[in-house]
Amino acid sequence: MIPVLVTGGAGYIGSHTCLSLVEAGYRPVVVDNLCNAKRSVMGRMSALAGREIRLHEVDIRDRRALDRVFADEQPVAVLHFAGLKAVGESIARPDLYYANNVHGSLQLLGAMEAAGVGTIVFSSSATVYGEPSELPLTESARLGPTNPYGRTKLMVEEILADMHTARPDFWRVARLRYFNPAGAHTSGQLGEDPNDTPNNLVPYVCRVAAGLWPEITVFGADYPTQDGSGVRDFVHVCDLADGHVAALRALERDGGVRTLNLGTGRGNSVLEVIRQMEQETGARLPYRVGPRRSGDIAACWADPTAMRTLTGWQAHRGLDVMLRDAWRWQCWARDNPTLTS
Ligand code: NAD
Ligand code: UD1
Repeated sequence: MIPVLVTGGAGYIGSHTCLSLVEAGYRPVVVDNLCNAKRSVMGRMSALAGREIRLHEVDIRDRRALDRVFADEQPVAVLHFAGLKAVGESIARPDLYYANNVHGSLQLLGAMEAAGVGTIVFSSSATVYGEPSELPLTESARLGPTNPYGRTKLMVEEILADMHTARPDFWRVARLRYFNPAGAHTSGQLGEDPNDTPNNLVPYVCRVAAGLWPEITVFGADYPTQDGSGVRDFVHVCDLADGHVAALRALERDGGVRTLNLGTGRGNSVLEVIRQMEQETGARLPYRVGPRRSGDIAACWADPTAMRTLTGWQAHRGLDVMLRDAWRWQCWARDNPTLTS
């Protein structure tokens, strides 16, 4: 099996991608410092994959440790998920975000170059677009991240393009701009499991559905959208995971530097998410409309054509499957607290 290094592979999207890699015949090797993941995910992931997935508990800022991992594992490519992702925290502690996301990526690129590994799939974000200049968003839309987290993503995108320009025969780069990942593995045994309280909509709705929190606050119902609440392109994490394998294959085949939206091409509103979750759980979900959240945009969804044209990938799962899987994971985690600690 072909070894591939997965930085941040114990995290939410990385762990699901490890399973897609195994299915596609690769051998994922995880590098993660576990700052936002639990060690137990490795065992669950390995059980679901039917083979051991190895963890190197390493910080990507530690160049020496990275060099050792490359020497030990001899990967042919890197999928780079490791990084911090909380927008609010990035505003309060930008230094942490530039150090982790930008300096960490530079250390990784240095280790890759030294090891002769030039293929990288990078986790970027639709947040690089900031306030959308067009809808749906194509990859050529105006860029303008509005917070330090988004700026770290854009900086790494640009670093990768410059590295490719300097050595086009060596670097093969995919810069994947995710829209709103949601859902969980269909087994219910793998899902979003952060060490801190989540702020994102779907995990919040799941916790209210589970009775852990009293109500959902809808951040604004006066946007110029179909029902006044915010609209986003929610994409199932397993579709996203498969997208990484498709991007990796395209790089192996064609090389180049690719910038690709990973979304469904459809927008759903916050109120639609709440209603759909009520259907999945069969219970009424208490919510109230509050003020807009600072920094939020009204609506955002992808034009995923470029990804489909290059790789053949498209998202297959709808909002119903996404919320059903997220709910299954919420219930499993509640019923198995020792297995998720
Ligand atoms: P996550 O926090 O679940 O996973 C990130 C993983 O990276 C964690 O396991 C964490 O422990 C690890 N990590 C962080 N800093 C590290 C370091 N310095 N060294 C080694 N490991 C480190 O996040 P996720 O949702 O799986 O996101 C994965 C990537 O996708 C991130 O780069 C994120 O910015 C990006 N992204 C996420 C979303 C989203 O909504 N989840 C949207 C767009 C982009
Ligand atoms: C947020 C980040 C974005 C990041 C993405 C994925 C901000 C401003 N943006 O995007 O940079 O890439 O997460 O991690 O933080 N909502 C509610 N009530 C809630 C939670 C959310 O109404 O309790 C609404 C929001 O106002 C928004 C929608 O749900 O309209 C989606 O919110 P969220 O899941 O936080 O994602 P984004 O804001 O799109």
